[in-house]
Amino acid sequence: MPVAVKNKPLRVTDLAWEFLRPVLEPGDIAVDATAGTGQDTLFLRQCVGENGRVFAFDIQTVALQQTKILLGSSRSVDNVTLVCDSHEFIIPRLAEAGVGGQAVKAVMFNLGYFPGGDPAIITKVETTIKALNSTLRLLSSGGMVTICLYPGHPGGFEEAQAVIAWCEMLEAPFVAHHFQTLNRKSPPTLIIIQRTR
Ligand SMILES: C[S@@+](CC[C@H](N)C(=O)[O-])C[C@H]1O[C@@H](n2cnc3c(N)ncnc32)[C@H](O)[C@@H]1O
Repeated sequence: MPVAVKNKPLRVTDLAWEFLRPVLEPGDIAVDATAGTGQDTLFLRQCVGENGRVFAFDIQTVALQQTKILLGSSRSVDNVTLVCDSHEFIIPRLAEAGVGGQAVKAVMFNLGYFPGGDPAIITKVETTIKALNSTLRLLSSGGMVTICLYPGHPGGFEEAQAVIAWCEMLEAPFVAHHFQTLNRKSPPTLIIIQRTR
């Protein structure tokens, strides 16, 4: 969906795509750290093209099954590796596929729970922060991390606060930005981290 649709509130998930679009080029490597329904994985695959690579992580097989179906229906399944594991293991899991150093152009985190699934299975502060620390080690110059935060569900506020505090401590070459709706209760918000060199 385009980022601005007449008479509809902006959505942080659409905003994340708009920030990533000019950053990603054909042939790039990108990671969806929380595959869920696969919408972000499909978006990343479309941006990096048939010569790029996408890794999609989720701890729930049902999420990866749904992602696989979505990719298949869009004929975008090539060059996408589905990883049924926690995103905190992003470094070893990418290393197994021969990806290391600062080779990754973009990593998307869409935190919280699987839409339509068990709301008790959520991303958690400890593993999210571990994954974010590892992500920065893999990010290439000019790369970007997007993080959609959902403070409105149980556990979501604490996670959002921890991620914001972690971002506030980042030093160069990383720059962190926070985008949020001002007049809604506990709205989802978006963090963008750029690696500037
Ligand atoms: C809000 S959903 C992601 C939405 C998704 N990006 C999409 O396009 O539909 C969050 C997902 O994170 C997954 N998740 C929770 N903890 C995780 C972890 N430690 N590592 C990877 N995925 C995790 C959940 O299973 C859930 O599917």
